[in-house]
Amino acid sequence: MMKIEALSSQKDFPASGKSTYLNTASVCLMYKPAEQAINAWFRDLTEFGTKNFDEKAEQEIFNGLHIAFASLIGAEPGDIAVGSSFTELLASLAWAIAPGENKNIVSTDVVFPSTFYPWLRVARHTKCEIRFAVGRNYTIDQDELIQLIDSDTEVVCVSHVEFGNGQVYDLGCIAEAAHKHNALLVVDATQSAGAVPIDVHKCGADVIITGAYKWLCGPFGVAVMYIAPHLQTKLDPGLVGFRSHKDMWDFNIKGLEYPVDASRFEFSTMAYGCALGLTESVNYLLEKGVEKIYAHNLAIADLLIEGLDSLNAEIISPAKKEERSSIVSARIPGTNPKEIAKKLSDAGIIISQRNDFIRFSPHLYNDSDDIERVFEELQRII
Ligand SMILES: Cc1ncc(COP(=O)(O)O)c(C=O)c1O
Repeated sequence: MMKIEALSSQKDFPASGKSTYLNTASVCLMYKPAEQAINAWFRDLTEFGTKNFDEKAEQEIFNGLHIAFASLIGAEPGDIAVGSSFTELLASLAWAIAPGENKNIVSTDVVFPSTFYPWLRVARHTKCEIRFAVGRNYTIDQDELIQLIDSDTEVVCVSHVEFGNGQVYDLGCIAEAAHKHNALLVVDATQSAGAVPIDVHKCGADVIITGAYKWLCGPFGVAVMYIAPHLQTKLDPGLVGFRSHKDMWDFNIKGLEYPVDASRFEFSTMAYGCALGLTESVNYLLEKGVEKIYAHNLAIADLLIEGLDSLNAEIISPAKKEERSSIVSARIPGTNPKEIAKKLSDAGIIISQRNDFIRFSPHLYNDSDDIERVFEELQRII
């Protein structure tokens, strides 16, 4: 097997030395300095109350994350909003757009439920139509998705990388089709940000949202949303609170005026330390370079595909290079995916079972030894 070194050290990802961890599509190993930043923030609050975390500090708490995440995707800091979870930010956006009765929303029937439920909830209220591109063996034909878009489409919402089989879409192509019909492209980047390069100018997405606890190597409790400049002042967020006002310390109960950038979607207090932790993780990934991480992860994924082929497994991740990501999903004939995941876990190899398949999701902390271990153990199990 070709030798591939990890891109990170065990010092930065202590958990990487304790198991063979191939489960980033579920939850990442968190970058150690992120955990330190989170705990330092909570500790300071415990020890000193608002002595250090005063009103100015609270107001400016997201500045570092705005800058870091903007830099990761080629945007400006003012294009970024911070929230507590992917679902929270998408729900607020879905109510801000709320396509009306004669409009439609286009998505796929293989997205993660949270990518779609907020639209479903809005559609129940406004009676807009929902159109799904239908997955065949979990794979979507991108042309079929594009054909669903017409002049009544208000939103196309896709996952940049699908959570099940790791299929990657050509966002530029989908954006072009959406924009031709004046529709918006909303992208769930939860399975791509930090692992697959994203350039907002090239991909043309109007909104990109991602959680922190997968490929960004950050914590639960924080998420980020990019909103294209042309859209920022047109949106009336679905969720509002004291932070939604342009001067959050003004307490003007009768005159809610939003900031004139993406931060109008920041509405409440949150576990602020998590935003500081994610800033550390994103800055670390910027140093490593997402292009380099992408190439590393694909090389590890190649080893997985090679090994699975030798077991005559049915690989359900796309074969086309441009549709592949770090996620490799497969069925091994004559085996039960739940049992395989459990037996691997008992042997210290962490993967996921999803539906009727097993899913491997290596990241920068994995090396070729991890993959060798997987196949030694799989041979034993089978
Ligand atoms: C594609 C995708 N979007 C969103 C989420 C989760 O969103 P949240 O962070 O709000 O739970 C997941 C979790 O697995 C996911 O795979």
